[in-house]
Amino acid sequence: MKRLITGVQPSGIITLGNYSTIKNVVKLQKDNPDFDFLIFIADLHAITVNQDRTKLRQNIRNLAAMYIACGLDPKKTHLFIQSEVPMHNQLGYVMECIAPIGELERMTQYKDKKVKQVNGINTSLLTYPALMAGDILLYDIDFVPVGDDQKQHLELTRNLAERFNSRFGETFKIPEPLISNVGARIMSLNDPHKKMSKSDPNPKSYISVLDDENIIKNRIRQAVTDSEGVIYYDVEKKPGISNLLNIYSFISGDDINTIVEKYQNATYQQFKEDLAEIVANELIPVQKRYNEILKSDILDQILDEGRDYAIKLAYKKIMKVYHKMGIGRKR
Ligand code: AMP
Ligand code: TRP
Repeated sequence: MKRLITGVQPSGIITLGNYSTIKNVVKLQKDNPDFDFLIFIADLHAITVNQDRTKLRQNIRNLAAMYIACGLDPKKTHLFIQSEVPMHNQLGYVMECIAPIGELERMTQYKDKKVKQVNGINTSLLTYPALMAGDILLYDIDFVPVGDDQKQHLELTRNLAERFNSRFGETFKIPEPLISNVGARIMSLNDPHKKMSKSDPNPKSYISVLDDENIIKNRIRQAVTDSEGVIYYDVEKKPGISNLLNIYSFISGDDINTIVEKYQNATYQQFKEDLAEIVANELIPVQKRYNEILKSDILDQILDEGRDYAIKLAYKKIMKVYHKMGIGRKR
């Protein structure tokens, strides 16, 4: 059996861009029914920056509910909260002990964040990839779905695993990246040169999965396009229309060429009207399931099961690691 893991940070509003990533995981599960899926809410990663405790608690629960609402099969998924499996911290620390500072300082995401943060940054922002390596290596993972921003961290994970294995003996499986092209990057609706992001100060730039129907439709109607009036895919020349085509494609499952053909004689307004309908029809049922899940006790059952499953695997691994390194007492 192949095993796959992915972690997601509980960071508030879930945008259409985040939704495309979640949908991608759901699709992976449908295409690979015999894979063992581990999905965790990365709350320990979230606290690398300051958080409001009440909001963080809500965000953790909401994101877990959203994963189930988007169609993950809870019977085939072990969904858990990172901080409830303390072996993540334990292995994260071991990874820090075999990762020279220079390797962590070279991480692009760290360098970017370091220059953006004016008031100084926490130590954990530097050591974050060591924790991420621990997240993955605890579970003998075969595949990690990764977007561009996480490729480098996975490469580091592989290096750390190989280093540990050669220094202390075979302990970790080397995980492979799973790079998928479904759910291309969704761009901002009012500036298609920027990624759609919940941290954008202008709410017209994004759609939240939980927005009501009118807002969803209006956001699509108001999306920035161009004045050519012809629908085709060209990210350079027509970033707005290309973004809308990407959204249409990932939600409908149709490929871009099919959509372009369908709308070759249509106006932007007709195209946007259809897209608004498609996006709303997709999200409204998700919202309904999401609210039901949050109200029921299903979510706690799922999270308990996920935690117990993860702890069983992770305990064995961390004990093996300690043993190989000679810490603690001989067993
Ligand atoms: P963030 O919201 O930046 O914490 O990202 C959470 C997850 O959603 C990551 O896997 C991102 O790669 C993905 N994501 C965030 N924004 C977008 C976007 N505009 N298009 C596609 N994926 C996105
Ligand atoms: N760093 C990832 C992100 O910011 C989240 C993450 C943490 C993760 N640990 C992981 C993803 C392990 C995959 C595997 O999106």
